[in-house]
Amino acid sequence: MINLATLNKLTYGLYIVTSVDQGRCNGFTADAVFQVSANPPTIGICIKKDNLTHDFVAKAQVFAVSILADTAPAELIRHWGLKSGRQEDKCVNTEYKTGITGCHLITKDTLGAIECRVVNVFDAGSHTIFLGEVVSAESFSDGEPLTYAQYRKKIKPALKQTDKKGDAMKKYRCVVCDYIYDPALGDPDSGIAPGTPFEKIPDTWVCPICQVDKSNFELLD
Ligand SMILES: Cc1cc2nc3c(=O)[nH]c(=O)nc-3n(C[C@H](O)[C@H](O)[C@H](O)COP(=O)(O)O)c2cc1C
Repeated sequence: MINLATLNKLTYGLYIVTSVDQGRCNGFTADAVFQVSANPPTIGICIKKDNLTHDFVAKAQVFAVSILADTAPAELIRHWGLKSGRQEDKCVNTEYKTGITGCHLITKDTLGAIECRVVNVFDAGSHTIFLGEVVSAESFSDGEPLTYAQYRKKIKPALKQTDKKGDAMKKYRCVVCDYIYDPALGDPDSGIAPGTPFEKIPDTWVCPICQVDKSNFELLD
């Protein structure tokens, strides 16, 4: 018998794993992060093969793990975990510092970050396991790390609730440059607060990337 629900009782933390490709950053929300050895200190990560970050790590052979605090907002987890860098640049509007590997270390809502150079790669079916030797590790703040159990109990239901708010929270895409307006994030740099539906944005607003007006946006399915 294989009762897959039993696997939900395994325990993890929650992280943002980032990598870099020719100066471009990308990253994703991850729970499958673990220390595999002490000497040399080595971290393992599992990445789904069709994630953009998978291609970045496979090519650059470096990655960074930013450790989420238990105070991290649900929207941050959605931002990195429920959309792909293939659709939009997820690294804009994030607070970060650049590590010695060139990876972004996320500095807001995190406790610290660890950078690694890949030393081994294993095929695991849908995912690839990358083992990375630690080349830097830095604490940003005290506090408690977010666990996957907390995510399942509090954050996942909150994200579902936001999704249920329905059409008012629909995303729109700029047909000129492919920028996606996400009402949950708004466009704070242009004075549009998070939570503002596309329809409520003033007509004077322009695409933050290519500067065309609202009429150039289409509803995303
Ligand atoms: C809570 C949570 C945990 C996740 N853990 C992993 C993980 O360990 N490995 C993985 O490949 N994807 C994981 N994902 C899914 C990726 O974050 C998601 O597919 C992301 O959109 C990939 O982004 P990218 O295509 O820009 O790399 C997780 C998502 C969430 C919400």
